Amino acid sequence: MRKMMKMMGDGLCFDGKAVLAPMVRVGTLPMRLLALDCGADIVYCEELIDIKMAQCKRVVNDVLETVDFVAPDERVMFRTCREEKSRVVFQMGTADPERALTVAKLVENDVAAVDVNMGCPKEYSTKGGMGSALLSDPEKIEAILSTLVNGISKPVTCKIRILPTLEDTVRLVKRIERTGVAAIAVHGRMKEERPRHPVHCDYIQAVAESVSIPVIANGGSSDIVKSFEDIETFRAATGASSVMIARAAMWNPSVFRQQGALSVERVMEDYIKYAVRYENNPFNTKYCLCQMLRDRVESPLGKRLHAAQTTEEICEVFGLTDFYMKTSAELKARKAALHTNGDQSETPKLEDDVITMPVRFERRDYPPQISPKMFLLEWSRKEKLDQPVYETEQRAQDRAFQSTVTAADKKYRSTLWEKSKKFAEQAAAVACLRALGLPEGRIGEESSGLVNKRKRDDNKCAPLNDNESATRKRHLSEVPQEAEEEVICRTKVVNGDCGPTTSEH
Ligand SMILES: Cc1cc2nc3c(=O)[nH]c(=O)nc-3n(C[C@H](O)[C@H](O)[C@H](O)COP(=O)(O)O)c2cc1C
Repeated sequence: MRKMMKMMGDGLCFDGKAVLAPMVRVGTLPMRLLALDCGADIVYCEELIDIKMAQCKRVVNDVLETVDFVAPDERVMFRTCREEKSRVVFQMGTADPERALTVAKLVENDVAAVDVNMGCPKEYSTKGGMGSALLSDPEKIEAILSTLVNGISKPVTCKIRILPTLEDTVRLVKRIERTGVAAIAVHGRMKEERPRHPVHCDYIQAVAESVSIPVIANGGSSDIVKSFEDIETFRAATGASSVMIARAAMWNPSVFRQQGALSVERVMEDYIKYAVRYENNPFNTKYCLCQMLRDRVESPLGKRLHAAQTTEEICEVFGLTDFYMKTSAELKARKAALHTNGDQSETPKLEDDVITMPVRFERRDYPPQISPKMFLLEWSRKEKLDQPVYETEQRAQDRAFQSTVTAADKKYRSTLWEKSKKFAEQAAAVACLRALGLPEGRIGEESSGLVNKRKRDDNKCAPLNDNESATRKRHLSEVPQEAEEEVICRTKVVNGDCGPTTSEH
């Protein structure tokens, strides 16, 4: 019955839609929201690998009003929000039906549909039996898709490339249709073909004629789809129900805009605003902006963007400092309000002789090269105290780490266990600094003057030449290492049975 319902198209409808294609690094939340604003009907996230996703925990982020899927190392693998919930498709890379189901169940209540990537020809995908490697294993395809269709309540789709012959391609998609998928996206190129090769509209057309589920035509960027009108041209040329666009949208997501494309400058500005609002990783933001700049990456603007290391610096490059300040202040205020409204969890407690607090070190909260350990070390030096000493334990059952730092003759620890020794030490430093009411270097925190922060040239918006750029990079990477190498660290294994620990220093 469920399978029948899905075939009849309950949930997300894939007919007559303009779709943002899945794109690694490009299809994160800011790009998806921007594409929706511009007129896309459905947006696919970047491909996320099942093994990594299966380790994530689902975290409701009240400050950003997002749902985050967070890896053990605290990286946000997938961030989504209410605005896209009914239109976002979660794409995964998988070669294992049960693991695929575990991941699909983890995300199903936060997305509109789940897709399996069967088209990626890159080695990192195919060597694990994922991506286009699946195309030569129809039993595996059937097992994965049937398991998903029967196991989750949301529509399931898949994205394939065409096979060397039309007959084999049609045979495969008919087999896929029988699993109960709601739609199939067809990239009209064979796995050996590159983006510069022309797309095979005739193959997509043959597929569209042979199945009754919606077929989403893909592969038209550059040769066919350059503007909004071309989306319909591509659809008509393939006889497909819908069109999926990757590169043309990556270069300028306003290709989805019926009223006509916006300038790249305007689109970049809107993109950055979403990146600030949703605390997108600055390196991901930079990557997407560089794709939009295309052959202008070597221009003065491109070079200034290249030199930017934080979201704040990216905003400076694009004259969006006021927006950055205002939005960061709003997010900070919301965070503070949420903490005072009942969340007293960060109140320090005394356990035996250790002051504890349930805090984590979130790398994304700090500028690159800045860390709480550095701040604690500098504070100790300034106060002429012994330098902080870190003692780390590793738990046997899950090999997680917990550090205790001794600073100013007192011990501090986070009650939360971390997946790495490095993060456990940082968390202990955070607990200490917060208990003492000291600055810790977080983005948006008022400048404390405790640490030799990066030198910011008055004219830092001016493009750097290669030598200047290299010198600046060296300078940036040297400061914290020097500071942190002096910190004393010891590791011991608790319960004794989990072998040597790996030092991440
Ligand atoms: C930067 C980039 C990343 C991509 N990542 C993915 C991905 O994660 N999953 C996927 O199925 N295809 C991925 N693709 C392939 C596209 O989804 C699409 O099939 C291909 O680019 C052809 O469509 P187009 O002509 O509109 O660009 C990626 C393509 C690009 C350019």
